[in-house]
Amino acid sequence: MTATKGLEGIVAAQSSISSIIDTTLTYVGYNIDDLAEKATFEEVVYLLWNKELPNEEQLAELKQQLADNMTLPQGVLDHFKTYPIKEVHPMAALRTAISLVGLYDDEAEDMSKEANFRKAVRLQAKVASIVTAFARIRAGKEPVAPKSDLGYAANFLYMLDGKEPEAVAIEAMNKALVLHADHELNASTFTARVCVATLSDLYSGVTAAIGALKGPLHGGANEQVMKMLTEIGELENVEPYIQNKLDNKEKIMGFGHRVYRNGDPRAKHLKEMSRQLTELTGQKKYYEMSVKIDEFFTAQKGILPNVDFYSATVYHSLGIEHDLFTPIFAVSRMAGWTAHILEQYENNRLIRPRAEYVGPELREYVEIDER
Ligand code: CMC
Repeated sequence: MTATKGLEGIVAAQSSISSIIDTTLTYVGYNIDDLAEKATFEEVVYLLWNKELPNEEQLAELKQQLADNMTLPQGVLDHFKTYPIKEVHPMAALRTAISLVGLYDDEAEDMSKEANFRKAVRLQAKVASIVTAFARIRAGKEPVAPKSDLGYAANFLYMLDGKEPEAVAIEAMNKALVLHADHELNASTFTARVCVATLSDLYSGVTAAIGALKGPLHGGANEQVMKMLTEIGELENVEPYIQNKLDNKEKIMGFGHRVYRNGDPRAKHLKEMSRQLTELTGQKKYYEMSVKIDEFFTAQKGILPNVDFYSATVYHSLGIEHDLFTPIFAVSRMAGWTAHILEQYENNRLIRPRAEYVGPELREYVEIDER
């Protein structure tokens, strides 16, 4: 038995949710480029769960279901107030809150297909409320209730800010949510599938997935990109900063990908949004620094930006606090996680690989007084 480090190239599941071939990403057969330009996030959620795009009636029904389920149990809101709030990372709060929401769901242990679907709806609805309520409560503000006449992206921004967002912000948030919604067997989705393949419940699967997304090699990279841009500060500092990282063999966050060696197809959409939004908000400097990092680093190493690189300046331009970037990734990826969990339940087998043993040979037990 020989291990493949990081399971690179291992095909670990069959799935009909999303596919990556070279630089083309599709959701159930639809190119991400088309979906990013034309679809609402709710249409994508429906697509991932049902494997077909919704008609108008089906979409209206899903929107209603999401709106009806956004309210959080008071116990979850009260719980946020018990944290040493300032120090708690929103991803840690989200991980705990999702698990906590499960304690308020009397269908949590019901493994019927219908109950699991209803839980997926509740999780998708509530994840936006959790992230926004936590952000407000830690800032000493009251949570804002969702508005049933707003779409998902608009409601997210509304619940965060307490003001109805402008069309340009809604469009950007919608596109970002569409682009992050699913990505084949990425680390967090794989984690979710491993967890529920033991026939554990949906809340456990999603809680595990959030833990995996939190790391800087996965979803946590977008926050680190903004940290890097803030540290760089000015355009002229880009080259020495990146060169120093390269000399110290440090990774540049927002670059590289296990699957894409010829570029991440999501990055170009986020790059264009970043260009437009930074210009609109008078923060062009951040876009210019990003492009310079991109050009300099790619020329040195031939490693291209991934989805996290330009999404950082998109969220920054929308006035979103930097430690909420990864939670936003989770808000979107909830659609993919739940779709994969439902798919895993449909045709389940325990996921239990082997390890290549590299420890000592078989040896005699030594009594403690002889060691
Ligand atoms: N900066 C500098 N060098 C890099 C980078 C980077 N961002 N990415 C890869 N490399 C180098 C790496 O040092 C290694 O070089 P060598 O062969 O000389 O040791 C080579 O490229 C292969 O890298 P790897 O880490 O073995 O590749 P991987 O497939 O295991 O990792 C990755 C993929 C995404 C974890 C990695 O590219 C990385 O750490 N990137 C930075 C973090 C990041 O942006 N993560 C977000 C990923 S995309 C969104 C998501 O799915 O969450």
